[in-house]
Amino acid sequence: MSILIKNGRIATAESDYIADIYIEGETIAAIGKNLKINADTVIDATDKIVFPGGIDPHVHLDMPFMGTFSSDDYSSGTLAAMHGGTTMVIDFILQTQGDSLYNALRTWQKKSEGKAYGDYSYHMAVTDFNENTKAEIQQMVDKEGITSFKTFMAYKGALMIDDGQMVALMHEVKRCGGMVTVHATNGDMIDHLIAKHRAEGKLSPLYHYLSQPEVTEAEASGRFVDMASYTDVPAYIVHLTCEGALNAVRNASKRNQKVFVETCIQYLLLDASLYEKDFEGAKWVMSPPLRQPKDQETLWAGINQGVVQVVATDHCPFMWEQKQMGKGDFSKIPNGHPAIENRVELLYSEGVAKGRISLNKFVEVSSTNAAKIFGMYPKKGCIAIGSDADIVIFDPTEKHTISAETHHMNVDYSGYEGWELTGKCKTIIMRGQVAIDNGKVLIDKGYGQFVKRGKISKVI
Ligand code: URP
Ligand code: ZN
Ligand code: ZN
Repeated sequence: MSILIKNGRIATAESDYIADIYIEGETIAAIGKNLKINADTVIDATDKIVFPGGIDPHVHLDMPFMGTFSSDDYSSGTLAAMHGGTTMVIDFILQTQGDSLYNALRTWQKKSEGKAYGDYSYHMAVTDFNENTKAEIQQMVDKEGITSFKTFMAYKGALMIDDGQMVALMHEVKRCGGMVTVHATNGDMIDHLIAKHRAEGKLSPLYHYLSQPEVTEAEASGRFVDMASYTDVPAYIVHLTCEGALNAVRNASKRNQKVFVETCIQYLLLDASLYEKDFEGAKWVMSPPLRQPKDQETLWAGINQGVVQVVATDHCPFMWEQKQMGKGDFSKIPNGHPAIENRVELLYSEGVAKGRISLNKFVEVSSTNAAKIFGMYPKKGCIAIGSDADIVIFDPTEKHTISAETHHMNVDYSGYEGWELTGKCKTIIMRGQVAIDNGKVLIDKGYGQFVKRGKISKVI
C-alpha cells in the first residue's frame, strides 16, 4: 500500500515548504519536489497545509472517577480525536491504592485492546508508592515501555501521595530512566476550602473555582519543582493554568533546572467568568479550574517563550446527566471537560489564524514536543523519512462551527458550542492508511496500536 501526497505546504516544528510526500507501508519513504513515483493512492494537497498528526498526551478514556466513568472509551475517544487531527493519545492508568501497578496495567489493557482507532500509550499514575510498587517501576520502563509516572498532589484519599512518597518515587524513577509528571495543586488546602464553602452553604459551581485559588497551584508547582531539582528527575507539570504556577517554573530555570510544562487548550481560551452561569457552569468544572484573562496571556506568552512546551486537553468528558451528580453540591460534580476532538483546530484557529503563534510553534506544541518529551521521537511527531506516516492534510481557509450536534465525542454538550473556527482537518493518514477523508471513516476499530516509549531525558 502506498500514498503520494502532492504539492502540499509541509509544516513541521522547524520548517515550512512545498513538496510531495511518498508513503510506503506505515512510514514516510520519500519527501521531495515533483516526486515521480507511482502510488496506489494520489492525494492533491495544493493549497493545503500538511502537518504531523496531533499528539494529545493528557486524556482520560473510560476512567473511573468521582463515582462514575468518563464517557468516551478507547473507540469513541480515539476516533473523535482523529476527526480533529489527533492521531495519538497518552491516557492515564490509575493504580488503585493498596494494589499493584501491574494489576492496573492489565485493567487498562482490557479497556484499550482491539478498541482504538488511533495509536495510544499510557502514563502510569502512582497513587500508592511503597516497597512493592517501587519494585515494579523498572519493569514498567524496560519491559512495558511506560516511561512516565504521574503523581497527584490533590484528590486525597483516592489519588494523592504525600511529599515523602513523591521524593522516594522521584529517586526510583530517575534511577530507571523515566519521568515524573504531576497534577500540582495543594490538596489539603483545597479540601479545607471545599469544606468551608460547603459549611457556609455555598454550593454552586462558582465555589469549585473559589476552592482552588491560584495560590493552591502556584504553591504545589513550586514544591514539585524543588523536589524534582533535589532528586534530579526529569519532570513535567500537567495542565498548568496560571501565572503563579508558571513563575515557579521560571524560578527553576534560573538555577538551570528544566521542568516541562503542559497547558490545555481550555486554559488558553476560556476563563472563570463561565462559572457565573449558575449550574450551567458545571460544564467547565475541572481541576484546576479555568482562570483569569491575565493567566491566558501568561500562557500564550509562555508558549512563545518556550516555557510551555505542550498544549493538551485533559479530555475527561461526562454526560450532562453525570454532571447533575453535583446539582446541589459543587464538590460532587465530576471534574473534567471534553476537548479531544477540538484541540488542534481550536489551536490553529485561535492561535495561528489570529496571529498569536506561528505555524511552526503550532506543530511543536500540538505534536512534536510531546513526542520528544515522552520518548517517541522521531517515530512520532514529525514529517521525516522513516517516521510513522501519521499526517493531517488541513484546509486553512475552511470555516466551520463547533457543536455537540455534529461532534464525534460521546458527550451531549460542548464547552465551545457555536464557536466559529477557521481551518479544518480534511484528510487524516494514520500509519500509512487514509483513516478519515472529508469526515468519512476508512479504517476499522482496533487499527490503533499501543506504542512502547523509550527512556526519557531532561532535555529535548
Ligand atoms: O478535572 C479534571 N482535570 N479531571 C480529570 C482528572 C485530572 O485531574 O486530570
Ligand atoms: Zn489533573
Ligand atoms: Zn487529567
